[in-house]
Amino acid sequence: MHLSRLDILQVRNLVSVQIDCHPKANVIYGANGSGKTSLLEAIYLLGRGRSFKHRDLRVVVNNQSDELVVSARIERQKSKSSHQLGIKRTAQGKFEARFDGKSLQSAVQLVEELPLQLIDAHSFTLLEGGPLQRRQFLDWGVFHVEHTYTNLWRRFQKALKQRNQLLRHGRIEGDLLRVWTAELLPLSEQVTEYRRQYLTELAVIVREVSASFDGLGSVELEYYQGWAENQGLAAVFEADLKRDMSLSTTNHGAHKADIRIKVDGVAAAEVLSRGQTKLLVYALKLAQATHYRNRSGQSCLFLLDDLPAELDYEHRAQVVACLNGLDCQYFITGVDKKDFELLVDGMAYQMFHMEHGVASEG
Ligand SMILES: Nc1ncnc2c1ncn2[C@@H]1O[C@H](COP(=O)(O)OP(=O)(O)OP(=O)(O)O)[C@@H](O)[C@H]1O
Ligand SMILES: [Mg+2]
Repeated sequence: MHLSRLDILQVRNLVSVQIDCHPKANVIYGANGSGKTSLLEAIYLLGRGRSFKHRDLRVVVNNQSDELVVSARIERQKSKSSHQLGIKRTAQGKFEARFDGKSLQSAVQLVEELPLQLIDAHSFTLLEGGPLQRRQFLDWGVFHVEHTYTNLWRRFQKALKQRNQLLRHGRIEGDLLRVWTAELLPLSEQVTEYRRQYLTELAVIVREVSASFDGLGSVELEYYQGWAENQGLAAVFEADLKRDMSLSTTNHGAHKADIRIKVDGVAAAEVLSRGQTKLLVYALKLAQATHYRNRSGQSCLFLLDDLPAELDYEHRAQVVACLNGLDCQYFITGVDKKDFELLVDGMAYQMFHMEHGVASEG
């Protein structure tokens, strides 16, 4: 899958940008503040229905305008078909999405149409941030390969919310709590099963990908399911009852899951340098895209903001080689054209020069 044409209107300083995208490598270079990250933000909006920089889309709309539009032509090699995907944030604050002229009802549908991976200056939180980031990473992977997972995940979230609301209620009706505990328990176990299976498969690919990055060491992923491995969740809920009631929350379950990421046997966040952290994030996301391709036969799109930052030339080249090996479309940005010239030498690509919100080829 790749974008052949991209149209952006009123996204930050990109008043009107139209580009013909290269099916594989797209390089965007330009001075600070020229609009490179905004171009990636526009593609991300199209694939996720939200920005990776700001929750409130009002900030993303150009300050001289009151609505933004992003649309793209998507080419699907697998089905040999071509589609039009578009999103709009209206002046009234409404978010609209269309696929081949038909309205999409939820952001989940956008995610299905345009699977994408982003790596930017904040991506190190995957290693250094809280478990939520790692659960989201895991869920992205399961969601894209197991179609029933979205529904299961939603039911799980709903049951968890209901049980927590009840616990917060103060005067707890025992029967009602039992009902929601009985609802939550199997959902928590099923979510765990899906995630564990996925992580087992992913860990093998992560080891292979990280081995192609010099000096990164041997990477291991371990799943923490959200409660003690040697205990059944029913017994854990039973033992937790008083604590759950006094803290007004469900203390154990799939919502507390995490991935423990180790390099040569030590927690990655404790030992890796800045550049190595970035490389490991690349390895995790490239592995995820490889798994997705193996299972679905489709490639996902990569958005790499400021690829040259913190990486030496050899490691940049290893990342680009990995992306090329995946046969996916990618958009990489950086300040200096010369950082890319040698990097893309000998391969097919398209460069864009971004200047004051205007993108030109070359
Ligand atoms: N709502 C908005 N309307 C108009 N301009 C905006 C808006 N929000 C941000 N900008 C401006 O858009 C410009 C583009 O920012 P962007 O982050 O895309 O730059 P960049 O090319 O990625 O720069 P850097 O190399 O520093 O990362 C900035 O100058 C910023 O001030
Ligand atoms: Mg930027």
